[in-house]
Amino acid sequence: MAQTSQAKAQTMQALALDKFGGPEALRIQQLPIPQIEAQEVLIRVEAAGVGAWDPFEREGRFVEILGMKPTFPYVLGTDGAGTIAAVGKDVKNFKVGDRVYAAELGNPKGGFYAQYTAVKTDNASLIPRHLTIEQAAALPTDALTALTGLEKVLGLKSGESLMVIGASGGIGHLAIQLAKRIGADVFAIASGDDGVQLAKNLGADSVVDGRGSNVLNAAKEFAPNGIDAALVTAGGEETDEALSAIRKGGRIAYPHGVMPEPTAPDGVEVKAYDGENSPALIDRLNALIDSGPFEVHVDRTFRLEEASQAHKALTEHHLGKIVLRVE
Ligand SMILES: NC(=O)c1ccc[n+]([C@@H]2O[C@H](COP(=O)([O-])OP(=O)(O)OC[C@H]3O[C@@H](n4cnc5c(N)ncnc54)[C@H](OP(=O)(O)O)[C@@H]3O)[C@@H](O)[C@H]2O)c1
Repeated sequence: MAQTSQAKAQTMQALALDKFGGPEALRIQQLPIPQIEAQEVLIRVEAAGVGAWDPFEREGRFVEILGMKPTFPYVLGTDGAGTIAAVGKDVKNFKVGDRVYAAELGNPKGGFYAQYTAVKTDNASLIPRHLTIEQAAALPTDALTALTGLEKVLGLKSGESLMVIGASGGIGHLAIQLAKRIGADVFAIASGDDGVQLAKNLGADSVVDGRGSNVLNAAKEFAPNGIDAALVTAGGEETDEALSAIRKGGRIAYPHGVMPEPTAPDGVEVKAYDGENSPALIDRLNALIDSGPFEVHVDRTFRLEEASQAHKALTEHHLGKIVLRVE
């Protein structure tokens, strides 16, 4: 395999778990740099996205649900971005030095909370030209989940109306922009005054604070005959009430993990789904991103060794995404 001098080093720093647990279980450790297979690339990680699901994975609940057998030390980090340090012998589409982003859920070779990670080429892509490394690191899982929900699950079409619930969060703020590029009219339900402002800036046609009192009135004003579809990224009483504004025959989608699970009004189809990841979907995502100004909102950045603070920050009000800077 081709490799840089850095990749010739034998070990790397990683934030690894010796057992599942609370934030205190995350410890900086010196670990072997992962070996790559023929169809994998080794990424020198510059930034890692912090997923809303990372604490869940840290506690071991994720491997339990998926029936995976974990190996320790266990390195978290589904999403990240950096520079290719080495390519497997059958890799044709990447070369050493390429700047890439990638997502690999439950990667048995370890995730992005480390100086290096090995990922399958199918899960990696060159970084869209307007994005910073932090933005690219934060992007993949939430953007692919938004896009899967909008196009595959909801079948959203140009000219349709869409409600996005949790519109200032990780998936939601990306869903607004992707839905606008698909040609939908977007009614965004965001969190707080700052969330409302972000959703407006990202192009939503109408925005309300989901914890305010005027949600249903605003939805009726937006679409007097009811809204065609909803992408739900936050559950609860307010969500179920807002969903009564979806028209009969309309559709609701939410990614697994949204709790409580949303309840559909009579005559409305509701589907739970998982975000997908494939070269074709990544190409589609990159094309949509490149078709105009696109913001991946990074609210806070922490150093790798501050990951426990980053996990705490996930539980506090924030907009968009949180990122770990690895180097
Ligand atoms: N199955 C899959 O493939 C998949 C993939 C990715 C994510 N997920 C899951 O999907 C869920 C959402 O992910 P995410 O990354 O978007 O999480 P997130 O960044 O936490 O976004 C959720 C957003 O909803 C907001 N919110 C909560 N209640 C609200 C209300 N009543 N009105 C308006 N906004 C409200 C939150 O604001 P505050 O922070 O102010 O409360 C937050 O901004 C998580 O459970 C995650 O684990 C599943």
